[in-house]
Amino acid sequence: MPRFPKNFLWGGATSAAQIEGGRCEDGKGLGHLDYVYYRGPKIPCNFMLKRDFEKAKAEEATLNFPNRRGIDFYHRYKEDIALLAEMGFKSFRMSISWTRLFPTGLEDKPDPKGVEFYHNVFRELHKYGIEPLVTMIHYELPIIFVEKYDGWASPKVIPYCVKYLKFLIDEYKDEVKYWLTFNEINMVTAVPWLGGGIILDRYDDFEIPKGFRPFGQLPKDMAKRWDNSAHQALHHQFIASAMVVKYAHDTAPNCLIGNMFNLHHLYPETPSPADGYRAHEETEYNMFFCDVMAKGYYPKWILSYYRKHNIEIKWYDGYEEILANGKVDFISLSYYLSTVVTADPTRQERIGSFIRMLKNPYIADSEFGWQIDPTALRISLNELRDRFNLPIYIVENGLGAFETLGEDKTVHDDYRISYLRSHIEAIAQAIEDGVDVIGYTPWGCIDLVSCSLVSMSKRYGFVYVDADDEGNGTYDRYRKDSFYWYKKVIASNGEDLD
Ligand code: BG6
Repeated sequence: MPRFPKNFLWGGATSAAQIEGGRCEDGKGLGHLDYVYYRGPKIPCNFMLKRDFEKAKAEEATLNFPNRRGIDFYHRYKEDIALLAEMGFKSFRMSISWTRLFPTGLEDKPDPKGVEFYHNVFRELHKYGIEPLVTMIHYELPIIFVEKYDGWASPKVIPYCVKYLKFLIDEYKDEVKYWLTFNEINMVTAVPWLGGGIILDRYDDFEIPKGFRPFGQLPKDMAKRWDNSAHQALHHQFIASAMVVKYAHDTAPNCLIGNMFNLHHLYPETPSPADGYRAHEETEYNMFFCDVMAKGYYPKWILSYYRKHNIEIKWYDGYEEILANGKVDFISLSYYLSTVVTADPTRQERIGSFIRMLKNPYIADSEFGWQIDPTALRISLNELRDRFNLPIYIVENGLGAFETLGEDKTVHDDYRISYLRSHIEAIAQAIEDGVDVIGYTPWGCIDLVSCSLVSMSKRYGFVYVDADDEGNGTYDRYRKDSFYWYKKVIASNGEDLD
């Protein structure tokens, strides 16, 4: 009996900001990630403070902004899609760039060149029988909303965003069946700049300590601003998302719209009931992002959690009805790692959805310290089945690694094959457990700019792109060993994983 359903959507995933490049071409505007500058191959840079933003603007001509270059998909999409087709892709996850269609975010009408670009990409995908899976917003906010307002913490973004989202449905509904509204919607509370364009010290109401580290101890006021503004932004995104889900249901019945959240599987550090409860609490918190979008309401539990953590947000009249009318059709998720938590107050930390992660001694780390745990994926898929009873699309998973092109013009990435094999195996087991998994699109199927590091040197792809962190290189594409392996996996519908 085959382990994967007949029409299983094998493919790969990307985002506009990380692949397109052509940032200012054909009238395109700039989004908030275009202001994140490179600081080193292992230095995370997606926490933007006022001083960083001012520097990015003042030194725009000399700083290194890899997202502005991407991998030049804007010009090379035909070549790239041909490579994906060669692997036998059934599905390609990509995002549309808000600022390619509405350069400042404020225009009444979209830019026709931007509109045409995505028609061309969809046409090319369909030529090979590849189904596009489109994220409407994958970490992109037109920069004006950062400068003028407070990113997504401001409700003023909602109407502009909803106009953009409705336009996507109107324009592309005949070419795109599968949609996701916000990429990793829970990341706005973990990394408020990345998910919401929020500059935490924008209002200067607290001192940034010397040697500030985003995940270190924070001044109390800063933690409060983080929690409140990030959860407020989340509320606004829930509302915008539900509005477009309803719009799509009313006007484009052929389309299916999913949520997208970053799945954290959590283990208690010890069998003590206190650790067990803490793991349970954090799991509930992680699932709540799905609850709102799939069930259409804030669960009672999270409201008491907000009280417990002094999270104060402004609720708007009528929001309950909006959420209730905008329930998603399927669950989608990214999954990379699992986490261990403790109830010991001296060793625990939480702000927004960031949890201090403890090492799990039973599992191995990737080169970047991400703990590799396919079993946690199987467990979580089972939990999601029981909680939502909806189809599940795994739209991100993968292994980032430093790699160089060998003299034989390839990369022998057996570590990636082994990572993906173990996760595909876990998905097959979950399907056997009764979970309705409809597709799998590993992250960065073609090397792209890393999100947390804005570097090229952290690579995920089946295809190597000859570009370095500074933008040097030919940008030519080369097949890695995993390319041929994944091709076999797809051709055998997941039976041949050797
Ligand atoms: C996910 C994001 O969180 O993780 C992607 O949706 C991102 O945009 C991916 O690239 C991997 O993270 P990183 O930092 O290794 O690129």
